[in-house]
This record gives sequence, structure tokens and C-alpha cells, in this order.
Amino acid sequence: MKLTVPPYFEEHVLEIVASAGGGRLPPEDKMLSMLEKLTHVLTLEREKLEGGTPYKEDSFLHAYLLYVFPQSFAKVVLTLWELKTYAVLPVQDKTLRVGDFGCGPGAASMGLLWFLAKEKNVLERVDITAVDYRFDLLEMMKPAMEKMMREERPQFRVRFDPVKADLEAMLEGAPLKERYHVLFMVNVLNELFINQPLEKRFDLLKRILGRNLTDDGIAVIIEPSLRTVSRDLMKLREPLATAGFYIIAPCPPEGYSCPYLTYRGTREWCHFKYPYVPPPVMTRLSRELRRDAAWLIKWSYLVIGKSKGKNPFYAWMSQEDSRLMRAISRAMDEKGKYKCYGCTGTSVERVELLKRHINEHTAGFKDIIRGDVFFAGDLVRKGNSLRFAENGRVNVIWSRNFFTGL
Ligand SMILES: C[S@@+](CC[C@H](N)C(=O)[O-])C[C@H]1O[C@@H](n2cnc3c(N)ncnc32)[C@H](O)[C@@H]1O
Repeated sequence: MKLTVPPYFEEHVLEIVASAGGGRLPPEDKMLSMLEKLTHVLTLEREKLEGGTPYKEDSFLHAYLLYVFPQSFAKVVLTLWELKTYAVLPVQDKTLRVGDFGCGPGAASMGLLWFLAKEKNVLERVDITAVDYRFDLLEMMKPAMEKMMREERPQFRVRFDPVKADLEAMLEGAPLKERYHVLFMVNVLNELFINQPLEKRFDLLKRILGRNLTDDGIAVIIEPSLRTVSRDLMKLREPLATAGFYIIAPCPPEGYSCPYLTYRGTREWCHFKYPYVPPPVMTRLSRELRRDAAWLIKWSYLVIGKSKGKNPFYAWMSQEDSRLMRAISRAMDEKGKYKCYGCTGTSVERVELLKRHINEHTAGFKDIIRGDVFFAGDLVRKGNSLRFAENGRVNVIWSRNFFTGL
């Protein structure tokens, strides 16, 4: 099932865009050119993002709110939905403390609020510390969030506490004192310490997670799915694990250094995708942009915890005598077999299932999509592949295919 972003935000953003134009929306060709400029800067001219300069232009900002905000919102919701399966969200108490670092318009916080509002939990209040060096975007989007909460879960008390700070300066300067149960950094890490050694991002993360994450808390880092940006995130796995943090997703817990980083040279990047229903205005505009073929959100992410108990994979692995893998491709139908690439945390494997070995224990393999977490039992090495033997078993323990909406 596709994820549909709730309507509150698009309606509101269109009002913002119209009010900037004296009550009228810009003509479609102008909206199209602003979208094209946005996607160009976000992909090909990323150096222009330094200092946030493009966001000073109204049209860039409006395009961002229309196009990127709903995608970030959807990425957060789907990531949280995965974490729900692992029961790692600390929602046992009545109050949840959240840090939204580099909050911008607040897509991460709002995705979390929507998710929590739709879920059964005992929560009564959510206190969000929003950190950024600007809050105009958050203020712009708050009325839509308030409307959403009035309609979805009016009894929830939500408090935003804006903290104006330069995240880079937190590397050396005074840290925030509070500890959060959920700490977000969504689409922001790649904007920090641009053109500086990656160690700076690691040092900052280590400091922030060390000081600002509760012992049972989780940090959710989401980045755009771009080769260099995603690879930078993959490079953080090893130093974070070595520093004593636990990677909950997407990596299987075995091993520290990311095997995908060196698989086929430097060509690969760990990313995931999922279909979503974009806001209607985007569907209309995308037809003009000829981008309507596949509405997929694509992202890279790391979910990090501080305690080993937070990672459900250890318990699962102790019960199974098979290999735990994260699918990094879908299962592909080839002559006489299905093939899929899986990451075990220590190696990237080509896994094959001969069609003659499809039975009730292996049938799930055919439907594997990128991102699925599965156990594969009774594998034998065949050249460069791992192949299910006759008594092969596949146990898909988590899949975006299981998503049934919120
Ligand atoms: C691409 S936006 C992402 C916003 C939001 N997390 C989302 O996904 O919708 C990046 C945000 O990080 C903020 N940011 C970038 N560098 C920062 C820094 N050094 N200190 C504080 N905020 C920063 C920007 O102001 C912007 O709001």
C-alpha cells in the first residue's frame, strides 16, 4: 500500500504561496520553473546550499514546501513504521521528549506527531525542542500541524521549544542540556561541515548523541538518496559502532564496517524507496515535468540507539540458525531462478532461489523488495552466490510490503 500524505499541509502551503502573490497562485509555468530550480540545486548544485542562501528566495522556499516537505514527512512516517515492528520507540510513558535538529519547516516532528496520533499509545504530551538557525519555516507550517492535531488527536498536548543555534558550533560550544527520547536529524547532516573532513560530522554526532539521547532513546538520521550523500552516511556506521552506539536500522548488527561501501568499487549507495501518493498539485505539475511515471520517495537512513537491548535483531538471531539480511535489491526473476542482493552487515551477497526449490518455506523470497529484512536458512555457496539448498527457508520479518496504511 502506498503512503498518502495527509491533506493539511498542501492546502496550507498553497495558501502561503497564494498570499505571497496577492491571493493568486502563480501560473503553472512559473511553478514549474521554481520546481526545476529546486531539484537542480538539491541534486547538482549542492554547494549553493551552504549558508542556506537559496531559501532566502520566496519561490525556492515555496517549491521546497510543496515538493520536499511532503516527501520528508513520508520518509519519517515510514521509518517510524519500521521501528514500530522492532518495538524500539520509547512510548511507554505519558510524555515524549523529542529533539528535531535542523528542524526547518518541521517535517520530522510533524511526521512523528501524525504517526503517534494514529497509533495506540499512552502518550499525552509531546515536547519538541526544535533546533535551527531559523524558525520562519516552522512558524509558517505550525498552523497546518495544529489543524492536523485538532482533527487527529485533540487530547494530545504538543509544545514546541525553539532553540536558535548553529549545529556546527555544538561541536565545540555549549551543548544542549536536555535528553531526548527521539532525536531527529532529517536532511541536515549533509548540509553540515560541507567541504570539511567527514570526521567532523562523526564528532558532532558522537557529542550530540552522547549528551542529548536518553539511554533508551533512538536517533533517526535521514538523508537524501544521492550517491555521495548516502555514502557519507554509510561511512559513519563503523565509527559510531566503534564508539559504542548500536545501529538499529538499516544495517544487520553483525560487523562494523559497511560492506556495501566497497562492493563494486564506489558505485553503490545504500538507499531505500517506496511509492507514495504526492499532494494533488504535485501530481498535476509533475505531468508537465514528465516525472509522473513513478512516485517514489528515496532515502538513506541510520537509526541509532545507545543500548544493545534496543536492537531486536540480537534476540531474533539467537533463535534462528540462518543468516539475517537486509535486501538491497528486489527479487529479480531470471531464467530458472530468482535472485536478490542482501546485506548481512559483513558482506553483500547475491542470493539465489532455484524455481524448482520454490515451496511453502521459500515462496516469500519471490516477493522481496528492497529494504526487506529476512532470515535465509540452508544456503550453500555456489561461485559468487549463496543458493538455497533443497531445505531452504525464507522468513521475511519486516517488509514495506506489509504497510497497510495508518
Ligand atoms: C534541508 S532542510 C531540512 C529541514 C527538515 N529537517 C526537513 O527535513 O524538512 C535543512 C535545515 O537545516 C538547517 N541548518 C543547516 N545548517 C544548519 C546549522 N549549521 N545550524 C542549524 N541549522 C542548520 C537549515 O536552516 C534548514 O532548516
